[in-house]
Amino acid sequence: MDSEINPWSNSQTVDLDRLFSEFGIEPIGEVARNLPEIPPFIRRGIVVGHRDYNLIADAIRNRTLFHVLTGFMPSGLPHLGHLMVMKEVVWHVQQGGTGYVAIADREAHAVRGVSWEKCREYGKEYLKALYALGFEGTTYYQSRNDRLKDLAFEASTRVNFSELNAIYGFGPDTSLSHAMSVVTQVADILFPQVDAGPAPTIVPVGLDQDPHLRLTRDVAYKLRMFTVEDRGEYISVRSKNAPVGAIEAVHRAFPDSKKYAAHVDIPGLTQTQVEEIVRRIEIEHGGFGFYRPSSTYHIFMPGLQGGKMSSSVPGSLFGFYESESSVKKKVMAALTGGRMTLEEQRRLGGDPDSCPIYLLNLFHMLEDDIELADLRRRCESGELTCGQCKKETLERVQAFLADLRDRMDAVEHLAEEV
Ligand code: TRP
Repeated sequence: MDSEINPWSNSQTVDLDRLFSEFGIEPIGEVARNLPEIPPFIRRGIVVGHRDYNLIADAIRNRTLFHVLTGFMPSGLPHLGHLMVMKEVVWHVQQGGTGYVAIADREAHAVRGVSWEKCREYGKEYLKALYALGFEGTTYYQSRNDRLKDLAFEASTRVNFSELNAIYGFGPDTSLSHAMSVVTQVADILFPQVDAGPAPTIVPVGLDQDPHLRLTRDVAYKLRMFTVEDRGEYISVRSKNAPVGAIEAVHRAFPDSKKYAAHVDIPGLTQTQVEEIVRRIEIEHGGFGFYRPSSTYHIFMPGLQGGKMSSSVPGSLFGFYESESSVKKKVMAALTGGRMTLEEQRRLGGDPDSCPIYLLNLFHMLEDDIELADLRRRCESGELTCGQCKKETLERVQAFLADLRDRMDAVEHLAEEV
């Protein structure tokens, strides 16, 4: 099994270079340059990797159809650690993406044993936070979406136990519901293409979710009727499991094409031109015409006390409705990148890159790049003490939370309706 990334484990030390080379995740830098506007989470090095993000950058630039989807497991209340993905989804919706958010109650129930009542109670808080941050689009609970369940069943026709073992380490003791929650997530990721038509789909996630993306990309490919390959002289459309009528339709759609038993060769067109038409024919014959989903991967913020940010370590994070006094206590008690003594701090300066408070600002609390650069300079020069920095950060945090809570209260009805 993947010792390095497992969606349900808590280990979080990842070697980015190794992940990139071993699993085929690409560094985001180059492809991001094709975006008309580089979002803060890429500019600031938070989103570090991607699969097929070029499809999304092109769609944003050319204003063509694309979708954005992510999911949240309602195993507890949403908190600081969920904000980044929420912002990524909202940003992609603002760039023209059709927005989708799944509340993964089937996963929470199957994997974490959360009751359906609690799933709904927590789920509502995620939805409130999303709408408060500006999300527009479709949201659903996995357990209440029948078309999703049908799609999950269809996806499961392309997944076997040895794959589940290889990808997740599932074995004889794994409950069937855990396996079902996996195919449900596969269906989540493909759902926008069934609901709103085939199109590139961006799935912003943390690195821990990559196994699900690898599996989904595989299933998306397996559910295709045709493959389209560039053979230099011509484009070859090969049937994987297309009905005879569909192969004939491909032949008819391209006047100069040559038809063989299970493939059609087409001269004079580009792969993209052929793909578009083949996709339409596939759908006309009852297929899905899926694009393989694209993904981005962000690094995680450390917990306030150093170490991992996790809801099982209350001091590592704060919730959106946490009391002012509790938030204050946590921020003021946070670990910093400061020195042992004030004298050393003045002389050597602090180390922002290892400082949870600086990273809190970098991730969420200081939107202005110039102000962030100034914070960094004051820290590194020894001008700013950690006590003062915490005080300033706390003010930003309290203002942010007050505003978010107001917005969340105001959109309660939207979350209620889902
Ligand atoms: N498994 C994800 C988590 O544990 C939640 C999730 C469900 C999800 N469906 C998804 C994430 C689809 C991304 C895309 O948080």
